[in-house]
Amino acid sequence: MSEIGGMNIQKLAETHGTPLVVYDENALRDKLTLFTKHFKSDFLETDVIYASKAFNCKAMISLIEEYGCCLDVVSGGELYTAFKAGYDCSKIFFHGNNKTPAEIKMALDFGVGTIIIDNEMEAAELAKQIQGTDKKVNVLLRVNPGIEAHTHEYIVTAHVDSKFGISMLDEEQIVNVIKMLDSCDNITYEGLHAHIGSQIFDKKAFSELVRKMFAFAAELKNAHGIEGTTINLGGGFAALYTAEDHPIPIDEVCAEILHTCEEENQKIGNLIRRICIEPGRSIVGEAGYNFYTVGYIKKTPNKLYAFVDGGMSDNIRPALYQAKYDAFIAGKENEAPYADYTIAGKCCESGDILIQSIALPEVETGDILVMKTTGAYGYSMASHYNKLALPAVVFVRDGQAREVIERETYDHLISLEK
Ligand code: LLP
Repeated sequence: MSEIGGMNIQKLAETHGTPLVVYDENALRDKLTLFTKHFKSDFLETDVIYASKAFNCKAMISLIEEYGCCLDVVSGGELYTAFKAGYDCSKIFFHGNNKTPAEIKMALDFGVGTIIIDNEMEAAELAKQIQGTDKKVNVLLRVNPGIEAHTHEYIVTAHVDSKFGISMLDEEQIVNVIKMLDSCDNITYEGLHAHIGSQIFDKKAFSELVRKMFAFAAELKNAHGIEGTTINLGGGFAALYTAEDHPIPIDEVCAEILHTCEEENQKIGNLIRRICIEPGRSIVGEAGYNFYTVGYIKKTPNKLYAFVDGGMSDNIRPALYQAKYDAFIAGKENEAPYADYTIAGKCCESGDILIQSIALPEVETGDILVMKTTGAYGYSMASHYNKLALPAVVFVRDGQAREVIERETYDHLISLEK
Protein backbone atom coordinates (compact mmCIF):
# COMPACT_ATOMS: atom_id res chain seq x y z
CA MET A 1 0.00 0.00 0.00
CA SER A 2 2.44 2.67 -1.13
CA GLU A 3 -0.48 4.75 -2.38
CA ILE A 4 -3.68 6.14 -0.95
CA GLY A 5 -6.30 7.47 -3.32
CA GLY A 6 -3.83 7.12 -6.19
CA MET A 7 -1.26 9.34 -4.44
CA ASN A 8 2.18 8.24 -3.33
CA ILE A 9 2.37 8.32 0.46
CA GLN A 10 5.89 9.75 0.72
CA LYS A 11 5.00 12.45 -1.81
CA LEU A 12 1.93 13.41 0.20
CA ALA A 13 4.02 13.62 3.35
CA GLU A 14 6.62 15.75 1.57
CA THR A 15 4.06 18.12 0.10
CA HIS A 16 1.84 18.56 3.13
CA GLY A 17 4.20 17.80 6.00
CA THR A 18 3.63 15.52 8.99
CA PRO A 19 1.82 14.76 11.18
CA LEU A 20 -0.85 14.64 8.53
CA VAL A 21 -4.40 13.35 8.42
CA VAL A 22 -5.30 11.84 5.07
CA TYR A 23 -8.73 10.69 3.95
CA ASP A 24 -9.26 8.43 0.98
CA GLU A 25 -12.26 10.27 -0.44
CA ASN A 26 -13.45 7.31 -2.49
CA ALA A 27 -13.50 5.21 0.67
CA LEU A 28 -15.72 7.86 2.31
CA ARG A 29 -17.95 7.85 -0.75
CA ASP A 30 -18.13 4.04 -0.76
CA LYS A 31 -19.37 3.99 2.84
CA LEU A 32 -21.94 6.68 2.14
CA THR A 33 -23.12 4.72 -0.89
CA LEU A 34 -23.42 1.54 1.19
CA PHE A 35 -25.46 3.19 3.92
CA THR A 36 -27.76 5.11 1.57
CA LYS A 37 -28.27 2.05 -0.65
CA HIS A 38 -28.88 -0.52 2.08
CA PHE A 39 -30.75 1.49 4.66
CA LYS A 40 -33.92 1.39 2.58
CA SER A 41 -37.21 -0.31 3.29
CA ASP A 42 -40.38 -0.90 1.29
CA PHE A 43 -42.45 -0.30 4.39
CA LEU A 44 -40.75 2.48 6.31
CA GLU A 45 -39.23 5.84 5.47
CA THR A 46 -35.53 5.82 6.31
CA ASP A 47 -32.90 8.44 7.04
CA VAL A 48 -29.16 8.06 7.38
CA ILE A 49 -27.91 10.80 9.67
CA TYR A 50 -24.13 11.28 9.72
CA ALA A 51 -22.86 11.75 13.30
CA SER A 52 -20.49 14.59 12.56
CA LYS A 53 -18.74 14.41 15.95
CA ALA A 54 -16.67 11.62 14.35
CA PHE A 55 -15.19 14.17 11.93
CA ASN A 56 -16.78 17.53 11.32
CA CYS A 57 -15.46 19.96 8.74
CA LYS A 58 -16.97 21.81 5.80
CA ALA A 59 -15.60 19.41 3.17
CA MET A 60 -17.02 16.41 4.99
CA ILE A 61 -20.39 18.09 5.42
CA SER A 62 -20.51 18.89 1.69
CA LEU A 63 -20.03 15.17 0.98
CA ILE A 64 -22.87 14.36 3.35
CA GLU A 65 -25.10 16.81 1.52
CA GLU A 66 -24.08 15.31 -1.85
CA TYR A 67 -25.28 11.87 -0.71
CA GLY A 68 -28.56 13.24 0.61
CA CYS A 69 -27.83 12.28 4.19
CA CYS A 70 -29.01 14.16 7.26
CA LEU A 71 -26.57 15.52 9.82
CA ASP A 72 -26.16 15.06 13.58
CA VAL A 73 -24.50 17.93 15.44
CA VAL A 74 -23.87 18.20 19.18
CA SER A 75 -22.71 21.74 19.70
CA GLY A 76 -22.91 25.29 18.46
CA GLY A 77 -19.51 24.75 16.85
CA GLU A 78 -20.58 21.72 14.82
CA LEU A 79 -23.80 23.50 13.90
CA TYR A 80 -21.96 26.65 12.84
CA THR A 81 -19.61 24.60 10.62
CA ALA A 82 -22.60 22.96 8.91
CA PHE A 83 -24.26 26.34 8.44
CA LYS A 84 -21.07 27.77 6.93
CA ALA A 85 -20.79 24.73 4.65
CA GLY A 86 -24.16 25.78 3.23
CA TYR A 87 -25.82 22.63 4.57
CA ASP A 88 -29.64 22.66 4.67
CA CYS A 89 -30.24 23.13 8.42
CA SER A 90 -33.72 21.63 8.22
CA LYS A 91 -31.94 18.27 7.82
CA ILE A 92 -29.97 18.71 11.03
CA PHE A 93 -30.58 16.72 14.21
CA PHE A 94 -29.25 18.64 17.20
CA HIS A 95 -28.06 16.42 20.05
CA GLY A 96 -26.45 16.92 23.43
CA ASN A 97 -27.26 16.55 27.11
CA ASN A 98 -26.57 20.18 27.98
CA LYS A 99 -27.33 22.38 25.02
CA THR A 100 -26.95 25.87 26.39
CA PRO A 101 -29.75 28.43 26.03
CA ALA A 102 -27.52 30.20 23.47
CA GLU A 103 -27.13 26.99 21.46
CA ILE A 104 -30.88 26.38 21.51
CA LYS A 105 -31.44 29.94 20.29
CA MET A 106 -28.85 29.40 17.56
CA ALA A 107 -30.60 26.19 16.47
CA LEU A 108 -33.94 28.01 16.24
CA ASP A 109 -32.39 30.97 14.39
CA PHE A 110 -30.64 28.67 11.89
CA GLY A 111 -33.84 26.69 11.29
CA VAL A 112 -32.54 23.37 12.63
CA GLY A 113 -35.13 20.73 11.70
CA THR A 114 -35.01 18.46 14.73
CA ILE A 115 -33.86 18.89 18.29
CA ILE A 116 -33.27 15.74 20.29
CA ILE A 117 -34.49 16.54 23.77
CA ASP A 118 -32.29 14.97 26.40
CA ASN A 119 -33.93 15.91 29.70
CA GLU A 120 -36.80 17.69 31.39
CA MET A 121 -35.08 21.02 31.99
CA GLU A 122 -33.91 21.21 28.41
CA ALA A 123 -37.48 20.62 27.22
CA ALA A 124 -38.66 23.53 29.40
CA GLU A 125 -35.90 25.78 28.02
CA LEU A 126 -36.89 25.01 24.44
CA ALA A 127 -40.57 25.61 25.18
CA LYS A 128 -39.75 28.92 26.87
CA GLN A 129 -37.66 30.12 23.92
CA ILE A 130 -39.99 29.08 21.12
CA GLN A 131 -43.38 30.05 22.55
CA GLY A 132 -44.78 33.22 21.05
CA THR A 133 -42.34 33.18 18.11
CA ASP A 134 -43.09 32.18 14.53
CA LYS A 135 -40.40 29.47 14.65
CA LYS A 136 -41.13 25.78 14.38
CA VAL A 137 -39.13 22.72 15.33
CA ASN A 138 -39.56 18.96 15.47
CA VAL A 139 -38.41 17.08 18.52
CA LEU A 140 -37.41 13.55 19.37
CA LEU A 141 -37.00 12.49 22.98
CA ARG A 142 -33.82 10.64 23.87
CA VAL A 143 -34.69 7.67 25.99
CA ASN A 144 -32.40 5.33 27.71
CA PRO A 145 -33.27 1.71 27.01
CA GLY A 146 -30.85 0.23 29.56
CA ILE A 147 -29.00 -1.90 27.03
CA GLU A 148 -25.42 -2.66 27.88
CA ALA A 149 -23.55 -3.00 24.61
CA HIS A 150 -20.15 -4.58 25.16
CA THR A 151 -17.82 -1.77 24.38
CA HIS A 152 -15.43 0.47 26.31
CA GLU A 153 -17.07 1.83 29.45
CA TYR A 154 -16.47 5.45 28.39
CA ILE A 155 -18.47 4.95 25.21
CA VAL A 156 -21.34 2.93 26.64
CA THR A 157 -24.22 5.36 26.75
CA ALA A 158 -27.44 3.58 27.60
CA HIS A 159 -27.06 2.08 31.04
CA VAL A 160 -29.63 3.11 33.60
CA ASP A 161 -27.57 5.88 35.21
CA SER A 162 -26.27 7.32 31.97
CA LYS A 163 -25.97 11.08 31.68
CA PHE A 164 -27.83 10.81 28.36
CA GLY A 165 -31.58 10.64 27.93
CA ILE A 166 -34.38 9.65 30.28
CA SER A 167 -34.55 6.05 31.43
CA MET A 168 -37.40 4.02 29.98
CA LEU A 169 -38.00 2.91 33.56
CA ASP A 170 -39.13 6.46 34.32
CA GLU A 171 -42.18 6.36 32.10
CA GLU A 172 -43.96 9.04 34.07
CA GLN A 173 -41.22 11.58 33.46
CA ILE A 174 -41.06 10.67 29.78
CA VAL A 175 -44.83 11.11 29.41
CA ASN A 176 -44.77 14.46 31.22
CA VAL A 177 -41.96 15.80 29.05
CA ILE A 178 -43.62 14.72 25.81
CA LYS A 179 -47.00 16.12 26.85
CA MET A 180 -45.42 19.42 27.81
CA LEU A 181 -43.57 19.64 24.48
CA ASP A 182 -46.63 18.63 22.50
CA SER A 183 -48.71 21.31 24.16
CA CYS A 184 -46.57 24.00 22.45
CA ASP A 185 -48.08 24.96 19.09
CA ASN A 186 -44.74 25.32 17.35
CA ILE A 187 -43.15 22.11 18.62
CA THR A 188 -43.99 18.83 16.91
CA TYR A 189 -43.24 15.69 18.85
CA GLU A 190 -42.09 13.12 16.32
CA GLY A 191 -40.86 10.18 18.37
CA LEU A 192 -38.04 8.54 20.24
CA HIS A 193 -34.26 8.41 20.03
CA ALA A 194 -31.70 6.12 21.64
CA HIS A 195 -28.01 5.45 21.16
CA ILE A 196 -26.52 2.46 22.94
CA GLY A 197 -22.80 2.96 22.46
CA SER A 198 -20.03 2.90 19.92
CA GLN A 199 -17.81 0.31 18.20
CA ILE A 200 -20.47 -2.39 18.64
CA PHE A 201 -19.78 -5.74 16.97
CA ASP A 202 -22.90 -7.56 18.01
CA LYS A 203 -25.95 -7.47 15.74
CA LYS A 204 -28.12 -8.63 18.62
CA ALA A 205 -27.54 -5.40 20.52
CA PHE A 206 -29.23 -3.52 17.67
CA SER A 207 -32.15 -5.92 17.34
CA GLU A 208 -32.69 -5.79 21.08
CA LEU A 209 -32.73 -2.01 20.85
CA VAL A 210 -35.28 -2.13 18.02
CA ARG A 211 -37.58 -4.40 19.99
CA LYS A 212 -37.39 -2.23 23.10
CA MET A 213 -38.01 0.98 21.15
CA PHE A 214 -41.03 -0.34 19.24
CA ALA A 215 -42.54 -1.83 22.37
CA PHE A 216 -42.02 1.45 24.19
CA ALA A 217 -43.55 3.50 21.37
CA ALA A 218 -46.59 1.21 21.52
CA GLU A 219 -46.78 1.56 25.31
CA LEU A 220 -46.74 5.36 25.01
CA LYS A 221 -49.60 5.20 22.53
CA ASN A 222 -51.74 2.61 24.28
CA ALA A 223 -51.29 3.79 27.85
CA HIS A 224 -50.97 7.54 27.26
CA GLY A 225 -52.30 8.35 23.81
CA ILE A 226 -48.89 9.63 22.67
CA GLU A 227 -48.32 9.00 18.98
CA GLY A 228 -44.72 9.30 17.89
CA THR A 229 -44.06 7.94 14.43
CA THR A 230 -40.26 8.18 14.23
CA ILE A 231 -37.69 5.96 15.87
CA ASN A 232 -34.05 7.01 15.73
CA LEU A 233 -31.70 4.20 16.72
CA GLY A 234 -28.47 6.21 16.99
CA GLY A 235 -25.10 4.99 15.74
CA GLY A 236 -22.46 2.64 17.07
CA PHE A 237 -21.58 0.49 14.06
CA ALA A 238 -18.04 -0.75 14.38
CA ALA A 239 -15.00 -0.09 12.19
CA LEU A 240 -12.03 -2.36 11.52
CA TYR A 241 -8.96 -1.16 13.39
CA THR A 242 -6.90 -4.35 13.55
CA ALA A 243 -7.24 -7.90 12.26
CA GLU A 244 -8.89 -8.81 15.58
CA ASP A 245 -11.94 -6.68 14.75
CA HIS A 246 -14.86 -8.16 12.88
CA PRO A 247 -17.33 -5.35 12.25
CA ILE A 248 -20.75 -6.36 10.96
CA PRO A 249 -20.78 -5.51 7.24
CA ILE A 250 -22.89 -2.41 6.60
CA ASP A 251 -25.37 -4.15 4.29
CA GLU A 252 -25.89 -6.86 6.91
CA VAL A 253 -26.43 -4.57 9.86
CA CYS A 254 -28.83 -2.39 7.83
CA ALA A 255 -30.79 -5.46 6.73
CA GLU A 256 -30.91 -6.83 10.28
CA ILE A 257 -32.14 -3.54 11.72
CA LEU A 258 -34.75 -2.91 9.03
CA HIS A 259 -36.00 -6.47 9.06
CA THR A 260 -36.48 -6.34 12.83
CA CYS A 261 -38.15 -2.91 12.54
CA GLU A 262 -40.61 -4.17 9.93
CA GLU A 263 -41.47 -7.21 12.05
CA GLU A 264 -41.91 -5.19 15.23
CA ASN A 265 -43.92 -2.52 13.45
CA GLN A 266 -46.42 -5.09 12.26
CA LYS A 267 -46.90 -6.25 15.82
CA ILE A 268 -47.82 -2.72 16.90
CA GLY A 269 -50.20 -1.94 14.06
CA ASN A 270 -47.67 -0.07 11.92
CA LEU A 271 -47.52 2.88 14.29
CA ILE A 272 -44.00 3.81 13.18
CA ARG A 273 -43.47 5.52 9.85
CA ARG A 274 -39.80 6.51 9.87
CA ILE A 275 -36.55 4.88 11.06
CA CYS A 276 -33.26 6.73 11.39
CA ILE A 277 -29.71 5.65 12.13
CA GLU A 278 -26.74 7.86 13.01
CA PRO A 279 -23.48 6.28 11.86
CA GLY A 280 -20.29 8.23 12.49
CA ARG A 281 -17.25 5.99 12.95
CA SER A 282 -18.35 3.44 10.36
CA ILE A 283 -18.42 6.14 7.67
CA VAL A 284 -15.16 7.96 8.34
CA GLY A 285 -13.01 5.62 10.45
CA GLU A 286 -11.45 3.29 7.91
CA ALA A 287 -11.08 6.04 5.28
CA GLY A 288 -8.65 7.98 7.49
CA TYR A 289 -4.88 7.59 7.92
CA ASN A 290 -2.47 9.47 10.15
CA PHE A 291 1.02 9.99 8.73
CA TYR A 292 3.95 10.59 11.04
CA THR A 293 7.65 11.05 10.46
CA VAL A 294 9.79 8.77 12.59
CA GLY A 295 12.33 10.64 14.70
CA TYR A 296 14.57 8.83 17.14
CA ILE A 297 14.72 5.11 17.78
CA LYS A 298 15.46 4.10 21.36
CA LYS A 299 16.12 0.75 22.93
CA THR A 300 15.30 0.11 26.59
CA PRO A 301 15.77 -3.21 28.41
CA ASN A 302 12.35 -4.44 27.33
CA LYS A 303 11.24 -2.22 24.47
CA LEU A 304 12.26 -0.86 21.14
CA TYR A 305 10.72 2.56 20.69
CA ALA A 306 10.08 4.42 17.47
CA PHE A 307 9.22 8.03 18.29
CA VAL A 308 6.92 9.97 15.94
CA ASP A 309 6.28 13.66 15.43
CA GLY A 310 2.65 13.59 16.69
CA GLY A 311 0.88 11.53 19.29
CA MET A 312 -1.97 11.85 21.76
CA SER A 313 -2.46 15.44 20.61
CA ASP A 314 -3.72 14.22 17.21
CA ASN A 315 -5.06 10.84 18.35
CA ILE A 316 -5.99 10.48 21.99
CA ARG A 317 -7.88 7.23 21.50
CA PRO A 318 -5.04 4.82 22.46
CA ALA A 319 -4.41 6.77 25.69
CA LEU A 320 -8.08 7.29 26.53
CA TYR A 321 -9.67 3.99 25.50
CA GLN A 322 -6.66 1.68 25.07
CA ALA A 323 -7.70 1.65 21.41
CA LYS A 324 -5.60 -0.58 19.16
CA TYR A 325 -4.38 0.43 15.71
CA ASP A 326 -2.52 -1.11 12.84
CA ALA A 327 0.28 0.71 11.02
CA PHE A 328 2.91 0.29 8.32
CA ILE A 329 6.03 2.02 7.09
CA ALA A 330 5.55 3.65 3.70
CA GLY A 331 7.77 2.04 1.08
CA LYS A 332 8.55 -0.98 3.29
CA GLU A 333 5.16 -2.68 3.03
CA ASN A 334 6.64 -5.81 1.52
CA GLU A 335 9.63 -6.13 3.83
CA ALA A 336 9.64 -8.86 6.46
CA PRO A 337 9.17 -7.85 10.11
CA TYR A 338 12.42 -6.98 11.84
CA ALA A 339 11.24 -6.41 15.42
CA ASP A 340 8.32 -5.48 17.64
CA TYR A 341 8.25 -1.73 18.06
CA THR A 342 6.45 0.52 20.51
CA ILE A 343 5.22 3.61 18.68
CA ALA A 344 5.38 6.58 21.03
CA GLY A 345 4.26 10.13 20.48
CA LYS A 346 6.18 13.25 21.43
CA CYS A 347 3.90 14.52 24.21
CA CYS A 348 5.13 14.92 27.76
CA GLU A 349 3.08 12.06 29.10
CA SER A 350 4.10 8.43 29.63
CA GLY A 351 0.68 7.38 28.37
CA ASP A 352 1.37 8.91 24.98
CA ILE A 353 1.86 5.57 23.28
CA LEU A 354 0.09 5.22 19.93
CA ILE A 355 0.78 1.49 19.52
CA GLN A 356 2.04 -0.69 22.38
CA SER A 357 3.59 -3.34 20.19
CA ILE A 358 3.67 -3.86 16.47
CA ALA A 359 5.89 -6.02 14.27
CA LEU A 360 7.48 -3.82 11.60
CA PRO A 361 10.40 -3.98 9.19
CA GLU A 362 13.45 -2.08 10.39
CA VAL A 363 12.27 1.41 11.25
CA GLU A 364 14.64 4.26 10.51
CA THR A 365 14.69 7.95 11.23
CA GLY A 366 12.85 9.80 8.48
CA ASP A 367 10.52 6.91 7.65
CA ILE A 368 6.84 7.71 7.21
CA LEU A 369 4.74 5.66 9.60
CA VAL A 370 1.11 5.37 8.51
CA MET A 371 -1.51 4.54 11.12
CA LYS A 372 -4.70 3.09 9.69
CA THR A 373 -8.36 3.71 10.56
CA THR A 374 -7.73 7.04 12.24
CA GLY A 375 -10.60 8.82 10.49
CA ALA A 376 -13.10 8.74 13.36
CA TYR A 377 -12.62 10.71 16.58
CA GLY A 378 -8.97 11.38 15.78
CA TYR A 379 -8.85 14.92 14.45
CA SER A 380 -12.15 15.69 16.16
CA MET A 381 -10.67 14.89 19.60
CA ALA A 382 -7.29 16.46 18.90
CA SER A 383 -5.85 18.88 21.43
CA HIS A 384 -3.13 21.46 21.74
CA TYR A 385 -1.40 19.64 24.56
CA ASN A 386 2.23 20.75 24.76
CA LYS A 387 1.17 23.48 22.36
CA LEU A 388 1.50 21.17 19.41
CA ALA A 389 -0.16 22.60 16.31
CA LEU A 390 -3.00 20.62 14.75
CA PRO A 391 -2.08 18.70 11.58
CA ALA A 392 -3.40 19.49 8.13
CA VAL A 393 -6.20 17.32 6.75
CA VAL A 394 -6.07 16.23 3.12
CA PHE A 395 -8.68 14.45 0.99
CA VAL A 396 -7.16 12.33 -1.78
CA ARG A 397 -9.05 10.96 -4.73
CA ASP A 398 -8.06 9.57 -8.13
CA GLY A 399 -4.51 10.87 -7.89
CA GLN A 400 -5.48 14.35 -6.68
CA ALA A 401 -5.06 15.80 -3.20
CA ARG A 402 -6.92 18.75 -1.75
CA GLU A 403 -6.17 20.22 1.62
CA VAL A 404 -9.49 20.59 3.43
CA ILE A 405 -8.03 21.88 6.70
CA GLU A 406 -4.76 23.77 6.86
CA ARG A 407 -1.96 22.88 9.22
CA GLU A 408 -1.91 25.19 12.22
CA THR A 409 1.08 27.47 12.56
CA TYR A 410 2.70 28.74 15.74
CA ASP A 411 0.92 32.03 15.10
CA HIS A 412 -2.45 30.27 15.07
CA LEU A 413 -1.50 28.82 18.43
CA ILE A 414 -1.09 32.21 20.03
CA SER A 415 -3.64 34.08 17.93
CA LEU A 416 -6.16 34.44 20.76
CA GLU A 417 -3.68 35.43 23.40
CA LYS A 418 -3.71 39.03 24.67
N1 LLP B 1 -25.53 9.26 17.75
C1 LLP B 1 -25.30 9.66 19.01
C2 LLP B 1 -26.38 10.24 19.78
C3 LLP B 1 -24.02 9.54 19.56
O1 LLP B 1 -23.80 9.94 20.80
C4 LLP B 1 -22.96 9.00 18.77
C5 LLP B 1 -21.62 8.88 19.30
C6 LLP B 1 -23.25 8.60 17.46
C7 LLP B 1 -24.55 8.73 16.98
C8 LLP B 1 -22.22 8.03 16.54
O2 LLP B 1 -21.67 6.86 17.01
P1 LLP B 1 -20.66 6.02 16.07
O3 LLP B 1 -21.47 5.52 14.90
O4 LLP B 1 -19.58 6.92 15.63
O5 LLP B 1 -20.19 4.95 16.93
N2 LLP B 1 -14.97 9.32 21.15
C9 LLP B 1 -15.33 7.94 21.19
C10 LLP B 1 -16.69 7.70 20.60
C11 LLP B 1 -17.77 8.51 21.26
C12 LLP B 1 -19.09 8.32 20.61
C13 LLP B 1 -20.02 9.36 21.06
N3 LLP B 1 -21.31 9.27 20.48
C14 LLP B 1 -14.27 7.13 20.45
O6 LLP B 1 -13.32 7.70 19.96
O7 LLP B 1 -14.38 5.92 20.39
